[in-house]
Amino acid sequence: RIMKVFVSRRLPPEGQKLLAQAENCTIQQWESDDPVPRAELLKGVAGAHGLFCLLSDSIDKELLDTAGPNLKVISTLSVGFDHLAMDEIKKRGIRVGYTPDVLTEATAELSVALLLATCRRLPEAIQEVKSGGWKSWTPMWMCGYGLSNSTVGIIGLGRIGMAIAQRLKPFGVKKFLYTGRRPRPECAAGVNAEYVSHEKLTEDSDFVIVSCSLTPETEGLCNKDFFSRMKKTSVFVNISRGSVVNQEDLYQALVTGQIAAAGLDVTTPEPLPTNHPLLNLKNCVILPHIGSATYSTRNTMAVLAVNNLLKGLAGEEMPSELKI
Ligand code: GLV
Ligand code: GLV
Repeated sequence: RIMKVFVSRRLPPEGQKLLAQAENCTIQQWESDDPVPRAELLKGVAGAHGLFCLLSDSIDKELLDTAGPNLKVISTLSVGFDHLAMDEIKKRGIRVGYTPDVLTEATAELSVALLLATCRRLPEAIQEVKSGGWKSWTPMWMCGYGLSNSTVGIIGLGRIGMAIAQRLKPFGVKKFLYTGRRPRPECAAGVNAEYVSHEKLTEDSDFVIVSCSLTPETEGLCNKDFFSRMKKTSVFVNISRGSVVNQEDLYQALVTGQIAAAGLDVTTPEPLPTNHPLLNLKNCVILPHIGSATYSTRNTMAVLAVNNLLKGLAGEEMPSELKI
């Protein structure tokens, strides 16, 4: 039986190679580096047995209805799955593959880079060099906040949050705090992290790092009230999903000096419009959602996601099936 598969983007080369070897499939692919237009995505999934998608594709009820009853497997090139309407997907008995673990190290590394760039003001400092703002070595010029002796609060001590903590520990962090749905003593022990309330985490941390998944509970979690409890000298970093943050409230917190600085690898929307007010703030460092973007990690993710798709279509166990 020949199965129809729609692939919503050109894949990293290793994934593309594996896809080309797929048997018993006719593959239709949006062969571009630009996102597939919604209408083309809907056309592509109609009658499909398998769908390979990205986090920028919204896999909602309309799409699932358009796909119809053939659809058995969805494979996403991401660890996050907030773009998938999981209730609707489960109702239809569709299996889902995703890419946990393989991107943990690259994402944690980028998180550390973003945190350091933000707290030590690297983009601003580089700009000063280029613009002639660098006049002399000046005692209090371009000062920021360092990790040594600090308290770091991590919202969501999952695989990525834990990998961030492990990487920050050698910088001399004094204490780790964390929040989440439940305490995770088995993880937390390695960095001696203490499970606390959001109130205590925001009040006591010098650095707050968001590495939780986006769920109804975490949507808008970082709001006015949240930022108002943070120290004026504290630095906020988000590497999870833009919607965990109320961006208006973050903007106000940065403009009024309620917090010192913010580093964001994720925003709402993505891409962030180039005239967005946050981009005018010197104390806000924004990256274009590149947490997992190393050559090797993106290739590994693509291979895993193609294997998830093909194993799923064959009715076999997937290397990484999402079970929630
Ligand atoms: C990236 O944000 C991912 O979910 O893989
Ligand atoms: C979240 O995506 C995690 O793996 O920690």
